[in-house]
Amino acid sequence: MILSFYLSLTAFAAFGQLPVLSADALDVSKTAKRATDFAFDLFNGPTLQDKTSTKSPSELYYTTGGGVPYPQPFEAQRVAETGPLLLQDFHLIESLAHFHRERIPERVVHAKGAGAHGYFETTTDVGKNYSMADVFQRVGEKTPITMRFSTVGGEEGSADVVRDPRGFSIKLRTKKGIWDWVWNNTPVFFIRDPAKFPNFIHTQKCNPQTHLKDKDMFWDYLSSNPESLYQVMRLFSDLGTPYGFRHMNGWSGHTYRFVKEDGSWHYVKLHAVTDQGIKNHTIAEANILAGTNPDFGTQDLFEAIEAKNYPSWTVYIQALSPKAAETFKYNVLDLTKDWSYEDVPPQEIGRLHLTQNPKNYFAEIEQVAFAPGHMVEGVEPSEDPVLQSRLFAYPDAQRYRLGVNYQTIPVNCPYAPVANFQRDGRAVHDDNQGSRPNYPSSLEKLNLPKRPYNDANHTIWIGGAVRYLSTVSDIDFAWPKIFWHNLTKQDQDNFVGNVVGHLGMATSDVVKKRQTALFAKVDHTLGERIAHGINITLS
Ligand code: HEM
Repeated sequence: MILSFYLSLTAFAAFGQLPVLSADALDVSKTAKRATDFAFDLFNGPTLQDKTSTKSPSELYYTTGGGVPYPQPFEAQRVAETGPLLLQDFHLIESLAHFHRERIPERVVHAKGAGAHGYFETTTDVGKNYSMADVFQRVGEKTPITMRFSTVGGEEGSADVVRDPRGFSIKLRTKKGIWDWVWNNTPVFFIRDPAKFPNFIHTQKCNPQTHLKDKDMFWDYLSSNPESLYQVMRLFSDLGTPYGFRHMNGWSGHTYRFVKEDGSWHYVKLHAVTDQGIKNHTIAEANILAGTNPDFGTQDLFEAIEAKNYPSWTVYIQALSPKAAETFKYNVLDLTKDWSYEDVPPQEIGRLHLTQNPKNYFAEIEQVAFAPGHMVEGVEPSEDPVLQSRLFAYPDAQRYRLGVNYQTIPVNCPYAPVANFQRDGRAVHDDNQGSRPNYPSSLEKLNLPKRPYNDANHTIWIGGAVRYLSTVSDIDFAWPKIFWHNLTKQDQDNFVGNVVGHLGMATSDVVKKRQTALFAKVDHTLGERIAHGINITLS
């Protein structure tokens, strides 16, 4: 072994002395021209592609992904006219490979949706009186927004007219960073214990064996968790089948805190009232549309904006001081309870306008990432445990759905400078914060903003760690009763018909009776009507 190594070294040394025919033999060091200064902007490419995407096809030639003109998109290279394909057919392979990767994971909930862009106009000083958020400081200021509406349970290709709550999300690109309002078209929600969320959602989606929607699962969960009842009643009224996305209101649901420069704060809920007026489908209309035009809501929104019939919503807050919250009739952190206008009057803060359709649905709506944790100075979360869980959930889902750099995707990108130490990761498309240090350098210091207010005085918690699960009591029937007794006779009749048509399809008598007993607790006649409709006796 050692001997052969020695021999080969000797042979190599001898070989190296020969005048071989290679570039090694050419000495260009004296004649070669040295480079002159040359630098170019790496973003010429993206800028050019941005401009290219606005051009009409007639101004452009077909190219590969690398921008190389290519004469025929349909052809494939093969051996003669009937032989196998050639691996060298880069064009064919590139187009197949890209196609295979077109889908990204759909949202685990709220997968089906539509959206558009526009602005939020600050219309009063009310916001400023409660919060130092920059967006409220100047009446008349317009903040660019993107809104997305969605159904909750269905897959991306499902009908958008079905009975389901509707998501109602708004991304505000404020001068001091992104503020996302990730709301629904309802003031309350089915749960107030966050660990229930994935389980509840499973019951609203498909049966693990049949892959069919399952009425027994659906009502088994709801009837066993009666804190859901007010949301269930709203859902089974005609509010559960809104006419598209323009004719419904939006609510923050959760309580947040609005904070001023001096650290004083209020609990607030936010609420957007449609300027188009409320309009719903009956179940008969929704069922027909689900078959004939399952994308009705998406189409209605797009066509209204194309026709310059711009939809808008007037936004209000309801504010409670911490003192008033202590004695308020409901726990202000309970997501299953609304605040009536009589108890906490609404105050206008601004208006949302949608004026611009997406040019590309995937880039601008599928890739949009809303997160309740995206808040600005002057806005803070309350201790509502469902909200606290949501602070974690959304960016976690989006790192999976869109990748760790999802905030640099154009539709998510803040209109405020970003300077921090987050770097690298999959799919860096911008300049990755350039050459700035990627740690808090003492040599090139990043300025640290002044803490806007002292938050030590916000709340003092007393107590040890507990395992918490809420329990149901009579107060959980207060809102269902208010809601039922405020429906018109026609709306009550529709409600009964909607429940009978759905609950009646469950097969378990136990489930049917348990849910009907809850309706009977809201109003005995209501319980009797449903029992009669689904052919059971009220126990
Ligand atoms: C513990 C409770 C909840 C959890 C864990 C949760 C989780 C999620 C997740 C993971 C997504 C998909 C996000 C994405 O991929 O971009 C989502 C979407 C959404 N959620 Fe929730 N959610 C909860 C409760 C709520 C509540 C109470 C509301 C309304 C007040 C709400 C409104 C929405 C909306 C509107 C979307 C769609 C956002 C969009 O248009 O992209 N969620 N949720």
